[in-house]
Amino acid sequence: MNVLGLYPMGPNTASCLLEDGEITAFAEEERFTRIKLATNTIPVRSSAFCLDQGGLTLKEIDAIAVGWGNNKYPDFMRKFYSERMSHPEKDEFSDIYEQISLMEKIPAYFEKKLEVAYRKTGYRGPFPKIHFHHHHLSHAYSVYYPSPFDESIIIVVDGSGEEMASSVWLGRGDEITFQKSINLPHSLGYFYAALTEFLGFSVFTGEGKVMGLAACGAEDKALMTKLDNAMWPDGDEYRVNPEFIYFAPRTYSFRFTDKLTELLGIPPRLAEEPLTEAHNNLAWAVQNKLERIMAHLVLGAIKKHSIRNICLAGGVAMNCKMNGYISGLEDVEQCFVFPASTDSGCALGGAFIQARHCSDIRDKARRFSSYCGPVYSDQEIEDDLKDSKITSYHRMKDSDLLPFVARRLREGAIVGWHQGRMEVGARALGNRSILADPSITDMKDKINREVKHREEFRPFAPAILEEFAEDFIPTVPNLGYGPEYAWMLKAVRVNETIKRKIPAVVHVDGTIRPQVVSKSTNELFHGLLSAFYDLSGLPVLLNTSFNTRGEPIVCTPKDAIRCFYSTGLDICVLGNYVIEK
Ligand SMILES: [Fe+2]
Repeated sequence: MNVLGLYPMGPNTASCLLEDGEITAFAEEERFTRIKLATNTIPVRSSAFCLDQGGLTLKEIDAIAVGWGNNKYPDFMRKFYSERMSHPEKDEFSDIYEQISLMEKIPAYFEKKLEVAYRKTGYRGPFPKIHFHHHHLSHAYSVYYPSPFDESIIIVVDGSGEEMASSVWLGRGDEITFQKSINLPHSLGYFYAALTEFLGFSVFTGEGKVMGLAACGAEDKALMTKLDNAMWPDGDEYRVNPEFIYFAPRTYSFRFTDKLTELLGIPPRLAEEPLTEAHNNLAWAVQNKLERIMAHLVLGAIKKHSIRNICLAGGVAMNCKMNGYISGLEDVEQCFVFPASTDSGCALGGAFIQARHCSDIRDKARRFSSYCGPVYSDQEIEDDLKDSKITSYHRMKDSDLLPFVARRLREGAIVGWHQGRMEVGARALGNRSILADPSITDMKDKINREVKHREEFRPFAPAILEEFAEDFIPTVPNLGYGPEYAWMLKAVRVNETIKRKIPAVVHVDGTIRPQVVSKSTNELFHGLLSAFYDLSGLPVLLNTSFNTRGEPIVCTPKDAIRCFYSTGLDICVLGNYVIEK
């Protein structure tokens, strides 16, 4: 059974291919369109990659699975919006947005829209049947199936999926059952997004900046009291005051109302305005609130179901500081987060739902590797180099490449590293990465300034050889150094000795967001880390995504070449081909 999984609306559109339940390919559309998030783009390019990877055409696809519940819109969502989202103070924008949503998501309309997009790529055969799967259930499958658990609480938290803002599910064996949901307008994701925009960052890409900025702030008790009016624990759930994001006049934003501006007592920050102590403290406050409310939700579910394994999914689960906090709760036995926790993961989750009766699907899902994007041959790399009229490159022997790159890293070079299959998910994990020596104190500032062209407070992550992980991650998690730490999804606190050893990858609050690299998950990257260790005695490299401000992670060799020549990178390594400035 061949299933093409799609997430075709909103930000983070994506495609994946399941062949008899085995993940053949999975990638975000933005990597191919080169437009960050590829919002509302039908993912025909990532689909073309997936089909090509499987040697298939749409004719051989048995089902298209979409990770959104469009079939709820003609009836249920129409009723939900009119009953649950009505308010005398509701502004016109929200009303219009709902009306558009009700029309655009009607299955018959959306199916035709999908079909036409694929027909425009030249496909002439019969079109596969499209199946719509509820968004939060798709998120739940995306995280539970690859998890190591046979029994787990699954918590999905995002802006919203149809009516749901947060939901709790139970995974047992191969089955997932619904427990409860907290519906719109009580959205933690939308509240965090509102504060993201209030702080002058872009929604969907700026939430990570708020999380990073939070570390620069401190507790402001008066502000925390104000935010008690914005969101609070309620029984074993939580509530978000809808007046700050929905039900009041709005002047500055479609994400927050004037009541939020009044509550906070400062004007919304414009994108290029300087960040002040008040902004830092606001980021601290909203991050702190999120962590506490999520902990409340998790602990409530643990108490009710007497299960201590937790799976987290949905866009909010990209918050690695929150994930670290949840993982550290005493009552939590193990906490598993999927690397594509944003909506791109629903391409895979929807496909899992569709293929859930395939034999051994859980075993296949547990073999998930984040390296499931495109790979480029030597010939393709050489063609891109020649097309770009680059003559100064050289091809190195396998035996020379790693010692050479390790030496140049030790000398302070910033290296663009393009190898093997591209990663899915927001993090570069050693195949489309920018690498540097983390012991160089000013390396963080240098990369932010010269390569990433981004805010100076933004932190970088360490990639650590698995054999030395214990030396850097003091709290040994129950999962060992398995998938949890292979994907840079949890922040952990480190001591002063480690801060001195790898200053470029320790955030101002004393945390790191480690990626533990094992030989079995990425042999080449493991080899490079080993070569760097042989030279320096340090089994760690600074690892950040191979891109510059505002662009998606590079996909093709040509993308990497473009990024190399438009930034302060010193060396670009494409397979065994090396370009130096
Ligand atoms: Fe979502």
